[in-house]
Amino acid sequence: MSPRRPLLDDGVMSATTLLDPVPAVPPAAGTAPALVQARDLTRVWGKGHAAQIGVSSVDLDIAAGEIVAVIGPSGSGKSTLGALIAGIDQPTSGSLVVNGTRIDRMKTDKLAAWRGANVGIVFQDFHLLPTLTAAENVELAIELGPSGAGRRLRRRAARKALDAVGLGDFHKKLPAQMSGGEQQRVGIARAMVTHPPIIVADEPTGSLDQSNGHAVFELLMGLARNGSTVVFITHDLALADGADRVVSMIDGRVDAVTQRSAGGGR
Ligand SMILES: Nc1ncnc2c1ncn2[C@@H]1O[C@H](COP(=O)(O)OP(=O)(O)OP(=O)(O)O)[C@@H](O)[C@H]1O
Ligand SMILES: [Mg+2]
Repeated sequence: MSPRRPLLDDGVMSATTLLDPVPAVPPAAGTAPALVQARDLTRVWGKGHAAQIGVSSVDLDIAAGEIVAVIGPSGSGKSTLGALIAGIDQPTSGSLVVNGTRIDRMKTDKLAAWRGANVGIVFQDFHLLPTLTAAENVELAIELGPSGAGRRLRRRAARKALDAVGLGDFHKKLPAQMSGGEQQRVGIARAMVTHPPIIVADEPTGSLDQSNGHAVFELLMGLARNGSTVVFITHDLALADGADRVVSMIDGRVDAVTQRSAGGGR
């Protein structure tokens, strides 16, 4: 059992919970069904000799509150798997249940709504809107989500999320006025502000130096300790080593799964 970290203080948790119709409650150990259940998950593009395999016959369970690192060589299917779990893309075949909902065949508009309520996404190159301040970038995630929260509540939640990633003084800054590490922390604030049950981070430290990369990983660890499930795609084996489990991919398949710590159901 890890101690509850101060990263997401109770103020943030309650503010974000206000915005979340289905809060991610850390389940008791050993009792919860897996938050992610992938079965025979396959994503290919094209046919026959021209077929490009993204992922092939992946079976994977991820427990609620677990942080799972996905590693593997370039082209091994890490981003494809992350995009499927995040509901950005859909499989060619197989089934995928995330947070109790089967999303592999969901219609696109329903999937977009599901994503807004269930997933926070962190990108390697941050994907902040350049003309919006840090706070506005974070607020936008709430606006696009299902909460229907008013402006004041959105602003308060965005401010608390920025506080939680150590950027309390940055809310009025534009992305161009921030370092890469700071921008990525805004990216994490944006991903967590709606308190999604699952966060998918595709090489979130890939554009950062070692110390900023480590800080970003620690923030993701903190989210997992507070009940979010985190899928952390990385080329950094030292950081992957800090996850609860490490999933190694080769040629679109899960080659090995290594347990690092008890994880999940903290
Ligand atoms: N939209 C697409 N159309 C066709 N092939 C694709 C598409 N997206 C991915 N692929 C292929 O799927 C395979 C897996 O790609 P993916 O991006 O998941 O790899 P990755 O492990 O994330 O690699 P990297 O470490 O370089 O980011 C690759 O062979 C890639 O060319
Ligand atoms: Mg990738």
